[in-house]
Amino acid sequence: MSEFYQQLPAGLTNFHASNPEPFSVSELQSLVDAPVFAIPQDMLCHYDAVQGDLDLRKVIAQYVFESVKAHQIITTCGAQEAIFCLYHALLQPGDHVVTLTPTFEPLKAIPEHIGCRVTDVPLLPENDWQPVLDDINAAVNHNTKLLVINFPHNPTGIHIDEYLLGQIIDICKANDCWLFSDEVFRGLEHDPSTRLPAVADLYARGISLSVMSKAFALPAIRLGWLACQDQQLRSRLIQIKSQLSICNSRLDAHVSTHIIPHHEAIYKRNTDIINDNKQKLSSLISQYPDLQWVQPAGASTCFPVLKHIDSQQFTQKLIQTCNTLVLPKKLFLTENNGFRLALGFRNSQEKFEQIFGQTVI
Ligand SMILES: Cc1ncc(COP(=O)(O)O)c(C=O)c1O
Repeated sequence: MSEFYQQLPAGLTNFHASNPEPFSVSELQSLVDAPVFAIPQDMLCHYDAVQGDLDLRKVIAQYVFESVKAHQIITTCGAQEAIFCLYHALLQPGDHVVTLTPTFEPLKAIPEHIGCRVTDVPLLPENDWQPVLDDINAAVNHNTKLLVINFPHNPTGIHIDEYLLGQIIDICKANDCWLFSDEVFRGLEHDPSTRLPAVADLYARGISLSVMSKAFALPAIRLGWLACQDQQLRSRLIQIKSQLSICNSRLDAHVSTHIIPHHEAIYKRNTDIINDNKQKLSSLISQYPDLQWVQPAGASTCFPVLKHIDSQQFTQKLIQTCNTLVLPKKLFLTENNGFRLALGFRNSQEKFEQIFGQTVI
């Protein structure tokens, strides 16, 4: 992924981002009607606890989880560090891991890098990108250490229902397998009634991941968290984190503690933008029968599939003709010929028209 970004020309318009339109300080403060960015003058600018600030972890436990407690949460520098810590805490070379593709690349690439045996379960547009339970059942066995899921899903924006999540957990229980649930888009369900419980609340071997950059639309705050019930795993996570960032920024922790209680207003601001874009895109895309598009139900991206032009070539064409960047299939480790498009930015109509105009050859 980093190789791909390094080869790009400077000054491209990013139209692939998986975070919704980032807040400005003033927009967020006026939305929640509180000075959430105010820093107390007597705040000590010292290191924080490795597992994270206790007040922050209490707020996360209260507002994000049902039964998970503050001591079962570890904060990290973004979700990216959390993924690295989790895989290195849990996995050894040779362990069997099951992932679903398309995927956010590190979710599959890091276990491969560690030397795990990774079985991939492809999600397909002809199944509306929905995971097929029989395929997961066939991939997970008694030797499987970990199953990795991410719903709402990057890049397709699809979501699963609670019944399917329950079935996935049952497969993990039957095989004594860990379940890592990347929940960074939880809160960005396009219909809030479809929000799933956090996996760490539901399953003793479930691990939940979230972050301030996605559903909170605050990527400038580099703060994520992992939650799990297992004490041994948490202690290994803390050990690994202490070799990376050591601890989070106290400033990030302070503002996050004051922002998280306003989560519903923030999610609504974000999903209003996304739903408006989805409606616009839906009517536009019907004019392009050469595209296969599954309406997303969560997150802030979608993954239209091209029929007549390779996704890599299409991405290059957009760079050359529109100075615009969307992401090709290879970054999501899939053979499905799609590209990731951002749905979370205001005033997107013109850009959508420009991009989809280029799909015609
Ligand atoms: C599914 C998923 N998980 C984790 C991350 C990492 O989040 P962050 O960049 O805020 O650390 C991303 C970022 O795009 C993502 O899409």
